[in-house]
Amino acid sequence: MATPFEVLGVDPDADDGEIVDAYRQRVKESHPDHGGSAEEFQRVQDAYARIQAGDVDDELEVAEAAGDRSDGSGESAESDGSDSADGSESDPEDADAEQTGARVEYLDYQAIVDLGWSLDDEDLFEKASETDLDPVDYGRFVVEEGETLLEAAEARGFAWPYACRGGACSNCAVAVVEGEMPDQRGHILPREMLDRGFRLSCLDGPVSDDLRVVFNVKHLPDLDELRLPTGRFGQASPTD
Ligand code: FES
Repeated sequence: MATPFEVLGVDPDADDGEIVDAYRQRVKESHPDHGGSAEEFQRVQDAYARIQAGDVDDELEVAEAAGDRSDGSGESAESDGSDSADGSESDPEDADAEQTGARVEYLDYQAIVDLGWSLDDEDLFEKASETDLDPVDYGRFVVEEGETLLEAAEARGFAWPYACRGGACSNCAVAVVEGEMPDQRGHILPREMLDRGFRLSCLDGPVSDDLRVVFNVKHLPDLDELRLPTGRFGQASPTD
């Protein structure tokens, strides 16, 4: 089985920049809209998420023991399995602490509607994980430090709704089902909607290690009232 590094086509010693570049290239190549397949796209997403989470040591050990390193050297590993992707020493048990970004599990509100589910379903994401949904509708990615949720989704090849990118229109709204994003008071969402877990993906990224969000909620009745037409900003919303 290919290691996450092999899926991305990078050496296990690649630095963060090389990994991000390889990921962006692979995510474009494997996107179903660009000649790839849903399975390959998800495989690339998972590989990147695992590298970012430091969750690759076991597979590297197996691959190296089998002489299956991506550099073709076939040499046995000198590492005790505790080296991280950038070659620095690390304790596997501290993998989460080393993670540079937050893990996001996302689900398209339109898929919820199409499947007859509800945003209030307690097992929404469990059901989604057991359903054969397209990676555009459901999956996972890592949000790097300093990225907004919208920027992270776009960098990974997704076309989530937006218009103003400044907290004024609500086209980019998401529903936080689990985890946390900043409060965002002072922007277009009223207190009552913030209290119900709605946030603007153009403004912030997660402030928790893990986040479950439903995106594309702009047509929910309460949000539809707040939503300003995308034309006002001279910017087309990809899914409008
Ligand atoms: S894109 Fe307008 S509030 Fe986010």
